[in-house]
Amino acid sequence: MYITNRTVFIAGATSGIGLELARRFAAAGSAVIIGGRRTDLLDKLAAEGFATVPIDVTDAGSIDRARDTILRSHPSLDTIVTMSGVMIPEDLRDPAHFSSARETIDINLLGTIRVIDAFTPHLIGGGAGTIITVSSGIGFLPFPVMPTYAASKAGVHAYSEALRAQLDGTGVEVAELIPPAVATTPEHARRNPRALDLAEFATEVMDLLQTNPTPHEILVKGVLMHRRAERDGTYDELVAQRSQALAMLPSRQQPQ
Ligand SMILES: NC(=O)c1ccc[n+]([C@@H]2O[C@H](COP(=O)([O-])OP(=O)(O)OC[C@H]3O[C@@H](n4cnc5c(N)ncnc54)[C@H](OP(=O)(O)O)[C@@H]3O)[C@@H](O)[C@H]2O)c1
Repeated sequence: MYITNRTVFIAGATSGIGLELARRFAAAGSAVIIGGRRTDLLDKLAAEGFATVPIDVTDAGSIDRARDTILRSHPSLDTIVTMSGVMIPEDLRDPAHFSSARETIDINLLGTIRVIDAFTPHLIGGGAGTIITVSSGIGFLPFPVMPTYAASKAGVHAYSEALRAQLDGTGVEVAELIPPAVATTPEHARRNPRALDLAEFATEVMDLLQTNPTPHEILVKGVLMHRRAERDGTYDELVAQRSQALAMLPSRQQPQ
């Protein structure tokens, strides 16, 4: 896809990967609208010159209001990024985990579907555009500390595949961004020293996005291990390795 002269709405760009990609699209000469719930961050980003819109992807009314606002100010909108997501550890031996499971599915999977539903008619009407969904390496190689997160991202993958098939012939393409661990804060980098540097990750993503034709899956080198684990026969061993992190769940820790 071209990354210049686009009009891009990123739902979930008040921080992290979404914000970094917003900056990259803007630097490449595209108009960017940033969405999210945290109005203090939206105000800060508006002061920087971004167009911003409040949106809660769990609330269809909020999404429709955001869509109407965006289409009034940016009728040339041609790119949607469904970035909103939460990553919540869950202990499945504790029934209280269910509220986290519900929240995760509501934001990561149903939120993605709601945003796509709201904007697809506009893109199809224009006969062109790109929807970038966001799954995760964890959708292909589970991290047992976050069971519903893995399920939600496997769901986003399957949904993206079906969406692409259903939109075939409309001019609207679907690309799935599949990040590995990316350090979005110093704290994140400290907790996971193997997480990719955010700026390096974003550079690789923007390069891949510009490949023609747009790849169905945006796979930086650091995520190939996850994406190809089943094919490479490393899946069981890697899941066992990643299961060691279950010791970090508070309920699994021995009293001192
Ligand atoms: N960082 C990683 O290691 C990694 C790896 C694989 C995949 N991912 C995926 O990449 C995406 C971005 O993650 P990140 O690491 O950059 O995390 P982040 O900094 O926490 O960003 C998450 C974004 O989602 C927004 N969001 C959350 N709930 C929302 C809701 N109900 N409505 C609207 N927006 C909502 C947040 O904005 P508000 O709080 O302002 O609403 C924020 O802008 C997520 O989908 C995540 O699963 C991340």
